[in-house]
Amino acid sequence: MAKEQLLTPSPSPPPPTPTSTLPAQINVATRKQHTLLNRLIIDRLPLALPPYASDPALLGQGLAAFSRIFLVFEEAWDALDSENVVARCGETVSERRLATLRPKALRRSSRLKVDVEHIAQRAGVKSFATTSAQLAMLERMALEIQLKPHVLIAYGWVMYMAIFSGGRWIRQQFTNAGTEFWTPQPGGMQGEQEKVHSSGLPGFTFLFFEGEQDGEDIKAEFKARLAEADSLLTQDQRQDVIDAAQRLFEDCIALVEILDREVLWQKIWSKLPATIGCIAMALVTFLLYYFSRSGSWTPY
Ligand code: HEM
Repeated sequence: MAKEQLLTPSPSPPPPTPTSTLPAQINVATRKQHTLLNRLIIDRLPLALPPYASDPALLGQGLAAFSRIFLVFEEAWDALDSENVVARCGETVSERRLATLRPKALRRSSRLKVDVEHIAQRAGVKSFATTSAQLAMLERMALEIQLKPHVLIAYGWVMYMAIFSGGRWIRQQFTNAGTEFWTPQPGGMQGEQEKVHSSGLPGFTFLFFEGEQDGEDIKAEFKARLAEADSLLTQDQRQDVIDAAQRLFEDCIALVEILDREVLWQKIWSKLPATIGCIAMALVTFLLYYFSRSGSWTPY
């Protein structure tokens, strides 16, 4: 009987219910942070668009900061790609599998680079600076991915789904800003409005996807591949992914706070010459008045 019991195959685990899939667990674990981040972005975005902003300089600063997260994790993902790397030393089967999880058409880096460059040109700056606080964050991300490549799933899920969910709303706000906001010469891009729906205007092409379905097919493919790979991760690795997703949301929130501080300092610096001028004028006026009244000072 005991032998019979041993030979009887243990019942296979039930198919994952929608709430037990890794993406669903990430969503549950990050819901609070998503709500906060959502609010932070929704509150700030209008300030970087018309009628508050006449050019996309401020927007470019924010976009450049978020784009660097894509550059870091996509570069790491590219490096894992088994087509590019001939069986790296120490590479595990799941790492090789990880490399194939992301449909190539999801990659946003090249579009983001072009968009940020375009905005910088439009705003009349060479590039958007990376502060030391941002650099430290990016270095930590790169290290985390290097140590635990499976956390790329967290980066991919959070950042690509951001493009497909909130990104659709953001895209509409960007489109509403009008071609003249995005391009230097008014009227110089005739017919661009029609193009907006297929490839986007220079400045926010990263929010558009190749093909008839505007990326919905690519998103579905990514979700399907993730679902297939779900069972490959150990319990510890799943937890790593969920923790990394939470950290990533925290980092995005921190990034908004860093940007807030940068913008505040820029405002203070830009007003500094005028403020110093006013103070100097007031001081001179006061001194002239004081010495002329006291008679203790004569110019000659
Ligand atoms: C960097 C900022 C953001 C990140 C990282 C982010 C990330 C995510 C993720 C991972 C999901 C889950 C997607 C899914 O389950 O299919 C999601 C859903 C969603 N996001 Fe965001 N998001 C961001 C900003 C925004 C903003 C600004 C909005 C505002 C409109 C927004 C609106 C939504 C909506 C409506 C959903 C769908 C919720 C649902 O299906 O229950 N997101 N976002």
